[in-house]
Amino acid sequence: MGIIIAIDGPAGSGKSTTARMVAEQLGYIYIDTGAMYRAITLAAIRANIPIDEENLSTLVTQNTVTLEQSSRGQRTLLNSQDVSSEIRMPEVTNTVSRVSASASVRKAMVSTQRKIGEKGGVVMDGRDIGTVVFPQADLKVFMTASIDERAKRRASELQRKGIDTSPEIIAVEIEERDRYDSNREISPLRQATDARLLDTSSLLPEEQAEIITRWAKEIFPKN
Ligand code: DC
Repeated sequence: MGIIIAIDGPAGSGKSTTARMVAEQLGYIYIDTGAMYRAITLAAIRANIPIDEENLSTLVTQNTVTLEQSSRGQRTLLNSQDVSSEIRMPEVTNTVSRVSASASVRKAMVSTQRKIGEKGGVVMDGRDIGTVVFPQADLKVFMTASIDERAKRRASELQRKGIDTSPEIIAVEIEERDRYDSNREISPLRQATDARLLDTSSLLPEEQAEIITRWAKEIFPKN
C-alpha cells in the first residue's frame, strides 16, 4: 500500500509543489491540508461572522470540506462546490491563521485527515502533520527556506495567477502568518523531534522531490 509521508513547514517553503511531485513519483495520494483550513475560512468569510470559537464551532458542523483527486491534481470542495481557486484569494490568506487556531476547526479537520491517510500511500503537507495528525508517520520532513526566498516564490506564484503583489509585501504577510501559526496554543507549527530538516533555499523543486523520494525508498524499498 505504501507509507505515510508527513511534510510540515512554514508558508512558502515549497511544501505543496514538492509533496505533489513526490506523490506522483511514488504513485501516492497528495493531501494539501492547508486547502482544508482555507475552505473553512472561505465559509466564515461568506457567512460574514465574527471569527470566534463559538461561531466557528457551529460553522464546522454546517459546512463540509472534501478533497477530490482529479487528473489535474487536488480539487477542494466546500459543500460540494469547487472552491480551489477562491481559497487562494488574499482575503482568505489573511484570515486563515485566525480560523485555523480554533480548537473546533482543528478537531474536525484532523479527524478527516486521519481518515484519508490512515491506510498509507499518502503524502500530506501542513503544519502539524508530523506532530499531531500522524505522529507515527513513517517519514517526517520539515521544510524551510529563507524568508527572502519564500517571499519571492509566493509573489511569483501569485503574479502568475494575475494577483498584483511584490516580494516585499508578501514577506511581511508571511512573517505575520508564521508568527501566528507558530505561537498558537493548539498544534503550533513545530518541527517534530524525529523530522528530517530540508532547507530548500537553494534547491529546485525537482531536487527537493528527489531527496524526499529517495528517503521514502530507503525506508520502504517496495516504493
Ligand atoms: O499551507 P497553506 O499556506 O495553504 O496553509 C494555510 C493556513 O492554514 C496556514 O497559515 C496555517 C493553516 N494550517 C494549519 O494550521 N495546519 C495545517 N495542517 C495546514 C495549514
